[in-house]
Amino acid sequence: MLKFAGIQNPYTIGEFSVEKNAKVIQRYRYIHENLITIAAGHLPAREDWDLKVALGKHLYEDAEATDQLRKRLSQLRTSAQFINRDPDPSLSLLMEELIQANNDLELTIGIYDVIKPALIQTYKKHIAETQQIVDQPTIRILRSIIIDLEEQVAWGQEMIKVMQQANVYSEGSDEFKDKLQSFLIAAGGVDGLNEKSSSLPHRWRSLRAYNLPIKSVRDPRNMGPTTLSRTSVSNPPENPIHANLLFMMRVRQEEMTAAELIAGVIFSQKNMPWEFYFDLARHLWDEIRHALFGQAALENEGYEWMSQPQYTSDYDINAHKLPGTQYTWLSIGIEEGAMTRTGKRAEYEFCRDEAKHPLMTQFQDYDWADEVVHANLGRKWTPDLIGENIEFVREVAKQELEDFWDKVKASYSNK
Ligand SMILES: [Fe+2]
Ligand SMILES: [Fe+2]
Repeated sequence: MLKFAGIQNPYTIGEFSVEKNAKVIQRYRYIHENLITIAAGHLPAREDWDLKVALGKHLYEDAEATDQLRKRLSQLRTSAQFINRDPDPSLSLLMEELIQANNDLELTIGIYDVIKPALIQTYKKHIAETQQIVDQPTIRILRSIIIDLEEQVAWGQEMIKVMQQANVYSEGSDEFKDKLQSFLIAAGGVDGLNEKSSSLPHRWRSLRAYNLPIKSVRDPRNMGPTTLSRTSVSNPPENPIHANLLFMMRVRQEEMTAAELIAGVIFSQKNMPWEFYFDLARHLWDEIRHALFGQAALENEGYEWMSQPQYTSDYDINAHKLPGTQYTWLSIGIEEGAMTRTGKRAEYEFCRDEAKHPLMTQFQDYDWADEVVHANLGRKWTPDLIGENIEFVREVAKQELEDFWDKVKASYSNK
């Protein structure tokens, strides 16, 4: 159809007034935004490496979805103050129960077998029932979110199958799924438009608060032990350049610990503007991408990295500190510190000119670009987090770095 730019059913009255539309989109926004916090809270506690990686990617995609939905809300006569409110106590209860997942399987079922399939179903219904001209901006946003959600759910379904076959966690996961589903029904579904029962559900596990682990977890069934020391690969090559290159691959692979530190900050740091969580979600996913650079490079060379000891210092040494101090240590101490001539640029040039390794050269090229962004994020947010100017923050970073390296050095001499 050439008329209406191809928009179908232009004469049909839609389901949503502006007010009703804002009300349901506020619920969509709330769910995606909470899924960020939940994935961040669980990242350091979960065991399976592939699950950690996926949580990081999907958390970033949830942040992109949240950001789009927030912008759309602001176009629907919704004040910024209203956007930051929790829309419905029974939806809050659903999220508070989801974060109480006891293991990898429960969390995977909760996100990928309960919440996200319900989101897809609701968004498809919204797209079909809304007035096609008036609500085209929402339709476009929901369509793009559905593309991400369908990929995420397909991944999650496969993961659930693999975990169920391995039979490590199965106890209790059916009950967890049933409970979450009953909380979702009690909330009237994702959009709250289904009939709500007047008998409100009782809290189940969420009487207690969810706490971050004090030490990050690596899968005890197929990964090496956590360590505060770098261990490179077993049988490193004799050629010092090649040995150095493999060491660098391993350092990249172990950046999961940086992602976990950021996850802890996202989870613990309350009351920052939305843009802070949006920035840190990307920062977190970048660090997981860096871990994947290392994983891909090592696997491509035929090195088995998973059974090696796993460096977890970034999270484990800093976990007891205030979230602002943790983010200062990483973004100013480590990342701004890597902007010198001997930092990220030198790593890239080493791969290009000395090791002459095309894949690692490409990885380090982008790693360097990402780190420029991260140092900027540090300068943008740490003064706010610490409550002092950037010169003061740099002094904090210096002290935290000294403390950190002392603990890492001690771990070497204890061997
Ligand atoms: Fe990194
Ligand atoms: Fe970084």
